[in-house]
Amino acid sequence: MQEFAWWQHSVIYEIYPRSFQDSSGDGVGDLNGILERLDYLVHLGIDAVWISPIYPSPMADFGYDVADYCGIDPLFGTMEEFDRLLAEVHRSGLKMILDFVPNHTSDQHPWFLESRSSRDNPKRDWYLWRDEPNNWLSHFGGSTWERDNATGQYYCHSFLKQQPDLNWRNSAVKAAMFDTLRFWLQKGVDGFRVDVMWLMIKDDQFRDNPPNPGYRMGQPSHHRLLAVFNSDRPEVHELVREMRAVVDEFPQRVLIGEIYLPVPQLMTYYGLDLKGANLPFNFQLLQCGWSADAVAQAISDYHGAIPEGAWPNWVLGNHDQPRIATRVGPRQARVAVMLLLTLPGTLTMYYGEEIGMTNVPIAAGKVQDPAEKNEPGLGLGRDPERTPMPWDGTASAGFTTGAPWLPLGDDYKTVNVAALGQDPRSILQLYRKLIGLRRGRPTLVNGKLQSVAAENGVLRFVRIGTNDRILVLLNMGMDVAQITLDGGTVLASTGLDREGETVSGTLDLKSGDGLAIDLP
Ligand code: GLC
Repeated sequence: MQEFAWWQHSVIYEIYPRSFQDSSGDGVGDLNGILERLDYLVHLGIDAVWISPIYPSPMADFGYDVADYCGIDPLFGTMEEFDRLLAEVHRSGLKMILDFVPNHTSDQHPWFLESRSSRDNPKRDWYLWRDEPNNWLSHFGGSTWERDNATGQYYCHSFLKQQPDLNWRNSAVKAAMFDTLRFWLQKGVDGFRVDVMWLMIKDDQFRDNPPNPGYRMGQPSHHRLLAVFNSDRPEVHELVREMRAVVDEFPQRVLIGEIYLPVPQLMTYYGLDLKGANLPFNFQLLQCGWSADAVAQAISDYHGAIPEGAWPNWVLGNHDQPRIATRVGPRQARVAVMLLLTLPGTLTMYYGEEIGMTNVPIAAGKVQDPAEKNEPGLGLGRDPERTPMPWDGTASAGFTTGAPWLPLGDDYKTVNVAALGQDPRSILQLYRKLIGLRRGRPTLVNGKLQSVAAENGVLRFVRIGTNDRILVLLNMGMDVAQITLDGGTVLASTGLDREGETVSGTLDLKSGDGLAIDLP
């Protein structure tokens, strides 16, 4: 796959660093922990790690409140340890993507401390200050506006009040933030996942948002309004273009955007002449219903809308969304793996997905996530999908020698890397098998996607390369389905039990069965 950039044929593995591997015994994962597990990642077959924020932070939003864009929080380690990890990641043949959080800083960032110190401070305009609030709502509940008593004005925060929003219309902010990107790029970091890319610029007149006629009780409170004036503003695209230009100052880097928008708007983030984000994250699989019809529709909508020359991508999980095995159940989780790994483009998976990790219920007194604390009971908490990775069946699952910061799942004695590594048919082996298959069959990465259809609960599509064709059949329904085909050889099955089988005529596919078939 020489003609492609590394990121185009990559499987990206998201590491939530607090929960991957603790090496210090404080119950929180760290950089040396990731280093200890590099061999595991290499053996799994992934190509790149994306590490959620590791910068100095008061941790009000667990690192998404950055107090220094060019440092490492002592909880995770030191800069020397980071440099070593980066070198080892590269030595292992992997790439490293960092999280970049441009929309807001921590309220403890020196820039904000200066900005809030007086109305005439030179950094006042680095953040969004107003005499009066408008009606904009925070993603974590309540108004986006917080009154600062010392100076009598309000500052904007799209998330927690400890996360004041930067003013990206200020050229000094841009210059300073772009320099922080260069700091990491010069070290050799391979790219960035940009946090809430679609929120970075707000309406310059701060107009009120209109009510959302579709709002229903029980939804997050910020859904009461349509975020017309504080999200997806036209000016954001120029900013993304500039950010991409900074990343492109360095060869072979990637810019990925976190964007939760409907497909037509999402596509605009590739930018004019494709000079925007290399990959606007495609969250269709996180958001669509889990049926052959719904997924066929999601795939067709996405591929039908992708601009000429733009590179597709698919995401199965992340640190903000319920885990796939909880959402669809254990049998369908295997279907999800086969679906992900046979779709075109760049793929992103979330740590623990490969062992079928499920959401871990968190008792009320143990909640850590501010999203749950601020709006309890709506199911907004993200702790359940952020629990420690179970490596083995020993105390604390090999994650820590101390007390884990979030509880382990009840099932960790059986659902762990060591146990599933012993089981030749485990989901972990399915991941390894399919990642390997994708490596060996570039058609799965870049072949044409054709004949996407849903039939009797079975999702089917064909991947077509220059010299090969691979048919994918996934029974996403509840019943046995009969499929007729001309003939082919099974490359992989979700049960890891049919490889090499010749199939033709009528085929029975049980619920949760999936096949990747080499067509003649
Ligand atoms: C993004 C992150 C999420 C964080 C929020 C605020 O959505 O993925 O974890 O809370 O931005 O930074």
